[in-house]
Amino acid sequence: MARRIIPVADIRSLPPSPAAQTVRAPSGELLDALARPLHDLRISVTDRCNFRCVYCMPRAVFNKDYPFLPHSSLLSLEEIERIARLFVAHGVTKIRLTGGEPLLRKNIEFLIERLAKLRTPEGQPLDLTLTTNGSLLARKSRALRDAGLTRVTVSLDALDDALFRRMNDADFSVADVLDGIAVAQSVGLEPIKVNMVVKRGTNDSEIVPLARHFRGSGVTLRFIEYMDVGTSNGWNMAEVLPSADVVARIAEHFPLVPLEAHSAAETAQRWGYADGAGEIGVISSVTRAFCGDCTRARLSTEGKLYLCLFASTGYDLRALLRGEASDEAISNTIAHIWEQRADRYSQLRGSDAAPAVGEERRIEMSYIGG
Ligand code: GTP
Ligand code: 5AD
Ligand code: SF4
Ligand code: SF4
Repeated sequence: MARRIIPVADIRSLPPSPAAQTVRAPSGELLDALARPLHDLRISVTDRCNFRCVYCMPRAVFNKDYPFLPHSSLLSLEEIERIARLFVAHGVTKIRLTGGEPLLRKNIEFLIERLAKLRTPEGQPLDLTLTTNGSLLARKSRALRDAGLTRVTVSLDALDDALFRRMNDADFSVADVLDGIAVAQSVGLEPIKVNMVVKRGTNDSEIVPLARHFRGSGVTLRFIEYMDVGTSNGWNMAEVLPSADVVARIAEHFPLVPLEAHSAAETAQRWGYADGAGEIGVISSVTRAFCGDCTRARLSTEGKLYLCLFASTGYDLRALLRGEASDEAISNTIAHIWEQRADRYSQLRGSDAAPAVGEERRIEMSYIGG
């Protein structure tokens, strides 16, 4: 049966659709306008964080006057579960909880327990993970594992304690994060990945020390090119250290060999230590965009669906949830939105076709969770 096409402009304000058709069959894969399937859902569960990383939530902007979301705006954990279930029926196999700092969200274990019970149409459990700054991981790892979390990714930008404290600007120590990683590893939240955002001139001196530290530990260290997300971090190209330079610097100390990607949609390119001491990854969204294989949808804390990390507008699914739309109606709306998706910001960055910053305010990293 032909589905009613809802114009994009209408979906953004989302009138619950009484004339919604039946749920889209998950057998026919849902593809966007650039033929990309929908496989990953990143769910931001809070826009708050106990860190103030200079490249993400600079204190000058994210201060006591910053308009963080009020509690009434947040999707409830039950609402998140319902949306997630509908995405899984559409082909999502991986769910990542993000923030802000996701472990600050009250009862996060309850949400994980619910999400861990979801199954793909083929009956498989999800890859269920989260990205955390690690500060609460030592305390929470066991409960997260017991709730059904598969693995964790932890951010860590320096091994030097003074530099790390300057970068998180909230006086958290390297030891806090390393303790969290150790406990996560001991309870089996593996494979653990550690993300380092590299800012040239700020922490590029930490590339080799961090590589040395995690070599042979079973943890995969990944180096992320500093990105122009949002509008408040003062990004400029001179502070981006290309991943090729990161790889070259490490290879001077520890020879590397390229590894096959696990999947086309993977954000990181993988490199293995030639001596077998594990692997690293580089995420080159500035110098080598990976939009062509981007299968990621993002749900904000207040229930807006974003089709790109660099989007300015989202689609208000909360209005549907609270307007008592049926599962079928919401499911159809998700399908319509995805089918019209043509976002590929990183590929267009710097070109004439790129959306100009300032015309519409791009969302912040802490709002959408990376
Ligand atoms: P894995 O499932 O472990 O491979 O994780 P991931 O790389 O999908 O997620 P993670 O939260 O660890 O993200 C690592 C970095 O890649 C973060 O800086 C993200 O913002 C960035 N990233 C993730 N997805 C995208 C994307 O679709 N586009 C861009 N430009 N960056 C992304
Ligand atoms: N550029 C690149 N990565 C960033 N992150 C936060 N802000 C930026 C940025 N401007 C990282 C975090 C975390 C991941 C989700 O995104 O450190 O590891
Ligand atoms: Fe918090 Fe992560 Fe942003 Fe740092 S990068 S301020 S830890 S959300
Ligand atoms: Fe996907 Fe947008 Fe990132 Fe490109 S820039 S990979 S489309 S989220």
